[in-house]
Amino acid sequence: MTRITKAVFPVAGLGTRFLPATKAMPKELLPIIDKPIIQFAVEEAIGAGITELVFVTGRNKRAVGDHFDANLELESQLLAKGKKELRDLVRNIVPEGVSCIFVRQPEPLGLGHAVLCAAPAVGNNPFAVLLADDFMQGETLPTAALVAAFDQKPQNLLSVSEVSAEEVSKYGILRPGERGADGLISVKGLVEKPAREDAPSRLASFGRYVFTPEVFAVLRTLKPGAGGEIQLADAIDQLAEAGKVAAISNPSQRYDCGSKFGYLTAIVDHALAHPDYRTRFLDLLRDRLTGPGCSQ
Ligand code: UTP
Repeated sequence: MTRITKAVFPVAGLGTRFLPATKAMPKELLPIIDKPIIQFAVEEAIGAGITELVFVTGRNKRAVGDHFDANLELESQLLAKGKKELRDLVRNIVPEGVSCIFVRQPEPLGLGHAVLCAAPAVGNNPFAVLLADDFMQGETLPTAALVAAFDQKPQNLLSVSEVSAEEVSKYGILRPGERGADGLISVKGLVEKPAREDAPSRLASFGRYVFTPEVFAVLRTLKPGAGGEIQLADAIDQLAEAGKVAAISNPSQRYDCGSKFGYLTAIVDHALAHPDYRTRFLDLLRDRLTGPGCSQ
């Protein structure tokens, strides 16, 4: 089977948890200090060998398009001010040899529907899906691990992390089969947001996937599920019941930047790891923790 060279980035959700910040821009453009979370996801995909980026945009189409498009006016202004490094920074957001396609999801009818909107751009090819609000940090990132596993054995693949018993009700939880010698776990089903006592495991699927084009055929048959939306999880569950899905452990640290606290945690950890701010930021935290009003 062909190698994976395409990745789909659904960015058409309403982002209600971040209103009003997301009134005029998608939550995927929220920055971790100075870089939007979608750019981290794009870099993860490119690092995994992806060369065609398909963005599924909604009402905030322009902002994402503008971020990944060339901005010649800004580039020449930066050059005129002698800021060549910054010019290079904005010019190289999408490196040479990588192309962007923008497709439209006319209404936010669900993640499954958003992925289906990418079908004409993906064609009859396997592809990765990255939800940028799952922010990943680490030496090996999940898309590279998924693409490598697909190279070994082409099939639908999920990246999974173990979560605590309290957290299972927030995720799609795996009904796992056996774990093979290659580390892959066969998936028998995916249970969306189960109650703690009903959870078939503590292995949670999150926003990194690889699919064969077969997923489009399944998505086309789906009726609206939870929340009246076409759910990607329902398509995965169907494929899993037919024995067509495997999972691989996420090799990296994951932050749920779809939630405010997860986003805050990502920014704090990022600052603590950043060579430019680490020391000053630690001093600031120490100062705040010992200052007045911090008796707890
Ligand atoms: P979420 O459910 O986390 O995003 O969707 P949301 O609905 O935008 O956020 P809240 O809950 O209202 O705060 C997961 C991913 O799927 C995309 C979102 O942009 C996000 O990347 N999505 C969701 C779509 O592209 N289209 C949809 O119809 C729904």
